[in-house]
This record gives sequence, C-alpha cells and structure tokens, in this order.
Amino acid sequence: MTPLIELDHVTHRYPLARRRVVHAVEDVSLRLDAGQTLAVVGESGCGKSTLARLAVGLLTPTTGSVRISGEPSTPALSRTARRAVQFVSQNPWSALNPRKTIGHSVGLPLLAHKLCATKGERSRRVAELLEQVGLPADYARRRPAGISGGELQRVTIARALAARPRAIVLDEPTASLDVGVTATVVNLLLDLRESLDVGYLLITHELDIARHLATRVAVMYLGRIVEHGPAAEVFGSPRHPYTRTLLAAVPVPDPTRRQLIAVPGEVPSSVHPPPGCAFHPRCPHATAACRDEVPALVELAGHAGRHSACLRDQEISHAADV
Ligand SMILES: Nc1ncnc2c1ncn2[C@@H]1O[C@H](COP(=O)(O)OP(=O)(O)O)[C@@H](O)[C@H]1O
Ligand code: SF4
Ligand SMILES: [Mg+2]
Repeated sequence: MTPLIELDHVTHRYPLARRRVVHAVEDVSLRLDAGQTLAVVGESGCGKSTLARLAVGLLTPTTGSVRISGEPSTPALSRTARRAVQFVSQNPWSALNPRKTIGHSVGLPLLAHKLCATKGERSRRVAELLEQVGLPADYARRRPAGISGGELQRVTIARALAARPRAIVLDEPTASLDVGVTATVVNLLLDLRESLDVGYLLITHELDIARHLATRVAVMYLGRIVEHGPAAEVFGSPRHPYTRTLLAAVPVPDPTRRQLIAVPGEVPSSVHPPPGCAFHPRCPHATAACRDEVPALVELAGHAGRHSACLRDQEISHAADV
C-alpha cells in the first residue's frame, strides 16, 4: 500500500548569517499509512514543526526526499496529492482570516478543489462539515472574533476535512487551548479517525495527547528520530535513554491535565549540535565513545517495527532486565 506520507533520509537546515546553519531535521525517515496516527514527540525546538511543514510540502528538504500520496513533493505536486494531505496548525487565530466568515473559510477548499457544483451545494457541505466537528451550522455566518479558541480549532479541522483528505498533519493542535477544551478536541480527533478512516501525523510536545491518539510514536531529539515503534510498546517499555527520561518527566497519563515536559538539563544548540550522540551531555549512560559516533536508528532484535538509536542499547537494556 502506498504510504500517505513518506520521508526518506530527510535533512532540513535553515541558513543563518555568517554561513552558520540550524540543524532542524537530520536524516529522518518516516512513513504514515492509512488510518494510522503517528505521533512525533520531543521537547520544544527539536524540529517537530519543521518536520510537519516538510510532510505537507510547505518546506523543501535540504537533502533527502518527501513523497505525498506517492508523489515526490515539489512545487509541481498534483492537485490530487495536495488534497490528500491537509494541515492544521497550532494557532487557529492566525490560521483563519478575521475579516471573512467561518463559512467562507471552511468553503475555500471546496472552491479550490472544485468539489461543489453550485453555491447552494457548497453551503450545504459547509453546514455538514461544521456539524461533523460538533459546531452548529449557523456558525457559518460568524467571524473568528466571535468564537472561542476551542471552537476555532474545530473550524480549522472542518476546513481541513473539506478537502476529504486521507491524512491530516496536526502541528500541536491543542497547545493553545485550555485543559478542558483540549480533552474535547482530542475526543473529536478520535471520533473523526473512526468515522472517516483518516490518518494523522500528530506533532506534539504533550505526551498525554500522544498517548491517547497515537498508534505509532517517533521520539525526536535535536532533529533526529532516536526511538520509533508501536505506541503501546514505546510508552509501555521505552528503550532509548532520552525516551526514558522524557516519560519519567510525565508521570500521569491524563488528557484533562496539562503536562509539560521538564527534562533535566539544557537542550543543546541546534546550530552547534554536540558531536556523536547529541544526547550525550544529558545522558546518564554516556561514555567517551558516545562523543565519537552518531548512533544509527536500528531495529531491535526480537522487536519487529521497533527502532532505537543508542550505541549502548544492548548493555543498558540488559542491565535493566537483571
Ligand atoms: N525559519 C527559521 N529560521 C531559522 N531557524 C529556525 C526557523 N524555524 C525554526 N528554526 C529553528 O529550527 C529548530 C527547530 O525548530 P522547530 O521545527 O520549530 O521545532 P519544534 O517545533 O520542535 O519546537 C529550532 O532551533 C528553531 O529555532
Ligand atoms: S549513545 Fe550513549 S549518550 Fe547516546 S543515548 Fe546511548 S548511551 Fe546515551
Ligand atoms: Mg513547533
């Protein structure tokens, strides 16, 4: 089956003055299949939003390739592939035109992709989309200023659904919302996944959100994926020292409580990442060898589909077992 989104050895660097660069995403390979929710988790600044923008074709990789619905992501990406993968950003206030009605904004993809033959048909479809995200149809006549943050995020989800996508890339979809509202948006995403069989690439630094939605999880550290696998296994028995530290910082899996990640130590600079394993300055298991070699992300023996990038994986996991 063709993956909805596929990243193959993707690196993205932002140029800075004096020939310096930000190493935002380094050698990332990922795929999102139909109906799957792949959560990408990690601390702020580790490259999640850059990855999200690469995955929908808003950014072009410095090296490596991105395929969207089987097609190479280039400015010439077909209309069909563009429709197939939609984007929902963290901030619904900036995502919607404040001067236009909600109905206008939700109806735009219907126009752009010529999905409705008449104006009447478009209005009916907008009403249906608003109902699908739990909003009254008469919200179509309102403007963004008149409604709450949680409702606005529902509007941006309705607009994404208008294109009848097969996948939605959600960049921190609940980060700007209150705790109680977050839970209702998480439940909406669960319901929509069930009823529409849509795949999600869910970018989040809130692990409790990932726990509730993810079928697979990729853990990012300073631009690289350090662990990747089925959500139940990664959350149930984290393997990489960074994942272990990250999960230890979030003791209660509860979608109604806002849990921010508080990993001990400073996140190193993305302009001058530490040599070797980038986690070594904060890793309790680091040895001198960890400064010399970048660990490859390898599949764990006896755990199909689980990957970790640690030079000392065998020793650490063995020590944990005895
Ligand atoms: N347009 C940009 N120009 C330069 N650096 C950027 C730009 N956007 C993001 N960065 C840097 O790239 C790194 C990754 O950022 P980002 O992808 O936003 O991470 P996250 O979403 O995980 O917080 C950070 O160091 C950030 O400061
Ligand atoms: S390679 Fe070394 S520094 Fe990196 S996670 Fe493994 S033990 Fe820690
Ligand atoms: Mg971000």
